[in-house]
Amino acid sequence: MSAIEWNESLSVGIPTIDRQHRMLIDSINTLDAAVERGAGQVALAQVMKSLSTYVAVHFIYEESLLRASRYIQLNEHHDEHEHFRRTLESFGQRVASGEAGVAADVHAFLKNWLTAHIQIEDRAYAPTVLAHQRSQRQ
Ligand SMILES: [Fe+2]
Ligand SMILES: [Fe+2]
Repeated sequence: MSAIEWNESLSVGIPTIDRQHRMLIDSINTLDAAVERGAGQVALAQVMKSLSTYVAVHFIYEESLLRASRYIQLNEHHDEHEHFRRTLESFGQRVASGEAGVAADVHAFLKNWLTAHIQIEDRAYAPTVLAHQRSQRQ
């Protein structure tokens, strides 16, 4: 699996969100590097744990921004996040239990889900959030 490289297609145009997305991508790449070097179960479980924590923090922040901006698709967006969090949690348990090869599957899933989610669902809320932020500044 190759690392995710940041490019403009991953930018939503909101600096705080872009920073958090870059950090998420960094943690996914850290997991990839750990898999590549054949890191043990304890190290992998640790990487998964910090990734899950960061994902939870990001989702809370992002959803609070969507709520403040009265984004019409907030509920659907929240459901997507919840579904992802649950999948990540069950992967985390499988990694922690020492299931062989699961970390590589996790990495593929994370990479595909996160890039698609940012490019489609996250980019979709950007105009609403940016308009809200502009109206607050006036
Ligand atoms: Fe999102
Ligand atoms: Fe996001």
